[in-house]
Amino acid sequence: MRTVVLTGGSDGIGAAAAARLTRDHRVVLVGRSPGKTRAVADRVGADAALTADFTELDQVREVAAGIAARYDRIDVLANNAGGLFSGPTITGDGVELTFQVNHLAPFLLTRLLRPLLAEDGAVVNTSSIAARLFSRFDIDDVDSRRHYRPARAYGNAKLANILFTRGLHARGIRSVAFHPGNVATSFASDTTSPLRWLYTTVLNRSLISADAGGATLEFFIRNTAAWQSGEYYGSTHTPGRTARQASDPELAERLWQRSEALLGL
Ligand SMILES: NC(=O)c1ccc[n+]([C@@H]2O[C@H](COP(=O)([O-])OP(=O)(O)OC[C@H]3O[C@@H](n4cnc5c(N)ncnc54)[C@H](OP(=O)(O)O)[C@@H]3O)[C@@H](O)[C@H]2O)c1
Repeated sequence: MRTVVLTGGSDGIGAAAAARLTRDHRVVLVGRSPGKTRAVADRVGADAALTADFTELDQVREVAAGIAARYDRIDVLANNAGGLFSGPTITGDGVELTFQVNHLAPFLLTRLLRPLLAEDGAVVNTSSIAARLFSRFDIDDVDSRRHYRPARAYGNAKLANILFTRGLHARGIRSVAFHPGNVATSFASDTTSPLRWLYTTVLNRSLISADAGGATLEFFIRNTAAWQSGEYYGSTHTPGRTARQASDPELAERLWQRSEALLGL
C-alpha cells in the first residue's frame, strides 16, 4: 500500500481527496488544528492525524520529525495546505504569512521529508490559476510585503509553487503543480480581499464542489506516472496555461536559493 502525506487535509479539497484515497492508500493527514484534523482523519479512515501551523516553521520541523519517526517511506507528498489571507502579516520567522504558508513551509517540509521519498516517489503541489491572474512576481520582494494586496501576494505564492515544482524536477524529483478548479471550500474565509465574495456568498453556486476539487487532487496523487514531471496542469488534467515567469528556469533557481537562505539551509 502506498503512503501519502497530505497537508491541508483537515478541510476542503484535501479532506475530500483523503476520503477518496484511504480505501487503498495509507493517508497521513496533516492539518493545522488538532481537533479538526482528528475528526476528519477518523471520518475518512486516515492512518494518522498530525498537525503543524505553517505560520511557525518550528512546527513544520516538528511534524516532519513526527512523520520520520512513524514512517520509513513516503510514496507521495501532497503539498496542499494554503490560502488567501489579509496582510501584510510578518510571522515570528520574519516572513510574510501568505508566502510562508503557501510556499516556504511546504518547501521546508519537502526538504525535510526528501530522504523518506521513495525512488519512484512524487511531490504534488496544489497551485492555482491565481498565478496567471494575479501574480506580479519580484524576486527582490519574494514575499510580496511591499505594496501588499491579498490577491497579488496569493498569486505570487501560487506562482512560487510552480517554480518550486520546476526546481524539484531539475533536481531529479518527480513533481507536478496543478489548479484544482474554482472550488466551494473554506477558502478565502479569512481575508478582506474582494475575492472572498466569490466564496462566501451566493456567488459560490458558480463553483465546483469540494468533492470535485478533491477528485482532481486524487488524480495527481493516484496516477503519478500519468503526468509530466515539472509541469503545471489545469483542472482538466492537461498541461495548463500560466504566468510567463513560471517558465523561467533561472527564476526557479533564484527562488530555490532565496528560499534556502530564508530557512538558513
Ligand atoms: N478553493 C479554490 O477555489 C482553490 C482554487 C485554486 C487553488 N486552491 C488551493 O487549494 C488548496 C486547498 O484549499 P481549499 O480550497 O481546500 O481551502 P480550505 O477549505 O480553506 O482548506 C485549506 C487547508 O489548508 C489548511 N491551512 C490553512 N492555513 C494553514 C496554516 N497556517 N498552517 C497549516 N495549514 C493551514 C487548512 O487548515 P484548517 O482546516 O485549520 O483551516 C485546511 O486544511 C490551497 O492550497 C488553495 O490555495 C483552492
